[in-house]
Amino acid sequence: GAWTARVITLFPEAFPGVLGLSLTGRALAEGLWGLETLQLRDFATGKHRNVDDTPAGGGAGMVLRADVVGRALDAAAQGARGDWPVIYLSPRGVPLSQTLAKRLSQADGVTLLCGRFEGVDQRVLDSRNVLEVSIGDYVLSGGEIAAQVLIDATVRLIPRVLGNSASVEEESFAHGLLEYPQYTRPAVWEGHEIPEVLLSGDHARVASWRREQAEALTKERRPDLWRAHESGDPVQGQELS
Ligand code: ADE
Repeated sequence: GAWTARVITLFPEAFPGVLGLSLTGRALAEGLWGLETLQLRDFATGKHRNVDDTPAGGGAGMVLRADVVGRALDAAAQGARGDWPVIYLSPRGVPLSQTLAKRLSQADGVTLLCGRFEGVDQRVLDSRNVLEVSIGDYVLSGGEIAAQVLIDATVRLIPRVLGNSASVEEESFAHGLLEYPQYTRPAVWEGHEIPEVLLSGDHARVASWRREQAEALTKERRPDLWRAHESGDPVQGQELS
């Protein structure tokens, strides 16, 4: 079967969202990957079907209950081929990277738990071996957008999803550097010319100009990536191909 994302959420109608369009949407329609949603509330019991409760120790907001989330995760694990990773999207998580996306793309699929509110009871994350993943140092209103980011970054690395695998290898992070600038016709736009070297037809000069641009941009904008690149550290999917 195809790589599948199984998403546990209070808002299944948020999926596929943007993933239903363009490259990922075509690949989804062609069966190159699969998407399943589980409504978290279906695993709640009682008249009110409560999924959350107030935090132990006091404080603001609400916490998703261990019993409800536990039943949802156990249902999601049913029929998962082998054991595939279970991820809770949260700003406390390990950072999403090209390396992690590549690893996830090589599994049979992934179960994604989307939170709302202040978080999830820690006991269910610990007992079900859930990996927490963050898409960046900012706080979103819920995990759904983060889950879509993770799915997009992962699905496009599945063989045959991206038409041209050369573009994966050329893009940012494939070599640990930011991408060089791109241009297309017309040769002059509002008086601004395309750099002469790109029109020279000299492939070696083009390649070294692009390398210089990528290095200068990386030094300027991402000193952290530049240091890793220089020290030969395999970060951000540098080792990915
Ligand atoms: N949920 C809320 N904020 C998030 C973030 N930055 N990354 C992943 N999941 C989140």
